[in-house]
Amino acid sequence: MKLIIVKNYDEVSEEASKIVIDQLTSHPNSILGLATGSTPIGLYQKLIEANQMKKISFKNVTTFNLDEYIGLDMKHPQSYHQFMYHQLFSKIDINMSNTHLPKNDINHMHEHAKAYNDLLSNTKIDLQILGIGSNGHIGFNEPGTPFGNETFIVKLEEQTRKDNMYFFNSLEEVPEYAITMGIKNIMRSKKIILLASGIEKSDAIYKMIYGDVTESIPASVLQLHPNVTVIMDDQASSKLPK
Ligand code: GLP
Repeated sequence: MKLIIVKNYDEVSEEASKIVIDQLTSHPNSILGLATGSTPIGLYQKLIEANQMKKISFKNVTTFNLDEYIGLDMKHPQSYHQFMYHQLFSKIDINMSNTHLPKNDINHMHEHAKAYNDLLSNTKIDLQILGIGSNGHIGFNEPGTPFGNETFIVKLEEQTRKDNMYFFNSLEEVPEYAITMGIKNIMRSKKIILLASGIEKSDAIYKMIYGDVTESIPASVLQLHPNVTVIMDDQASSKLPK
């Protein structure tokens, strides 16, 4: 694992953007794995600027998102479909038909998980972007998820729903279920960058890097991946040995 420690959130976004920009410059037809949550928003902003300044193009880029809430209409403002559209896709020169998120209507959720997994199995993500939950989850792989899982339906932990509540009006509105790439899908990516900012991530970051590789801290599996870079700010890295 390569560790990059910078001062603050803006520098996390800057360092991450350099890696994505290098990837798209050297391989303009890259397949990117994308994350949602508040953490990658600054990175997406920098990619939008680089695209508008014609430093990079997304014309030949394909994307796969990690996850989506179950049961929220795709047009719901807090669905990850809408998040990605507003935070990135609508502002860059990507072909929308090359962007992929799991479909999420509750009546067909198992078929959707299988269909998304089939898509992922027929491709290989060049660069996967990850955030991390305060309980060490990646995508929506909650603690206890078997490392062998492929795309599946997950019941979200109360803590995860509380952490994500600020995007909604109340806890009741936060969906209880989601569809997520499994750890096995994530580990197939050629290269992974994980971004973390803020003191509430410091415990998970410490356990991910220095703890045992255990299903109770899903991100700890990344210790077994050959090409992971963790980009974090002072606060997120504050529990690491100096
Ligand atoms: C959600 C997403 C994760 C993300 C996590 C952290 O659970 N499914 O992919 O990493 O939130 O979110 P934030 O970046 O807002 O702290």
